[in-house]
Amino acid sequence: MAVAELAALIRERQPCVVLTGAGISTESGIPDFRSATGIWAEVDPFEVASIQAFRRDPERVWRFYRQRIDLLRQAEPNAGHLALAELEARGFVRAVVTQNIDTLHSRAGSKEVVEVHGSIRSAQCLECLWSEPAEKVLAQLEERPAPLCPHCHAVLKPGVVLFGELLPAAAMERAVELARSSALVLVVGSSLEVWPVAGLPLEAPAFAIVNRGPTALDEQAILSVDAGAGETLSALVAALS
Ligand code: APR
Repeated sequence: MAVAELAALIRERQPCVVLTGAGISTESGIPDFRSATGIWAEVDPFEVASIQAFRRDPERVWRFYRQRIDLLRQAEPNAGHLALAELEARGFVRAVVTQNIDTLHSRAGSKEVVEVHGSIRSAQCLECLWSEPAEKVLAQLEERPAPLCPHCHAVLKPGVVLFGELLPAAAMERAVELARSSALVLVVGSSLEVWPVAGLPLEAPAFAIVNRGPTALDEQAILSVDAGAGETLSALVAALS
């Protein structure tokens, strides 16, 4: 029933923009952050994923991100990612805005992907703004606990938005523009706990949610489906065929 409702909403309310969170990648073997088995249940984000932690102890931050980068690079897109790429190809999804850094939407074939929290593709130098590709960063991490900028030799920062950092301005502006010019935002697999991205659905005339468990915006959603991303999005493709 919920999928039929969702399909009707997406047919009626175009363009539709999708906002995804870690919940769409758990079926690729990547843990999310805030569910019972989430990463933040095991480790304090302000110890390993904040700009203060990076300045205080970059090697500790790199120990965490080296594991993340290794895991994410081995993961494969799942049915949820593939379904969104299919819905974009069929004209039902205009773009995917993602909080995820795993690059799985692009690898699944989605063309218009806005990564508002950065990605594992590279690491950044805060001193000279150089961007070092992940392959070279991982090669450095074989020899040293934190990678250095090849130009100014400062310690590189993981190419993801750390807590306490501003989001990439161009990506966030594009995400807001997409939400404001949409007729519907479909949120998939996010607790909607982390601002400013959590506020994106409120920029659209209406939004629907597909998420296992509650989110911070369930009451304002036009439809909230408590179900798995992969199964729901695959059923949505079938319903819109
Ligand atoms: N299908 C649907 N929902 C799922 C699935 C699934 N297969 N697996 C998990 N979920 C749900 C969880 O129950 C949870 O409500 O996805 C949601 C993920 O929420 P979070 O773990 O908070 O992840 P997210 O919303 O993406 O976090 C936002 O916080 O730590 C920062 O930078 C990090 O981008 C991240 C941001």
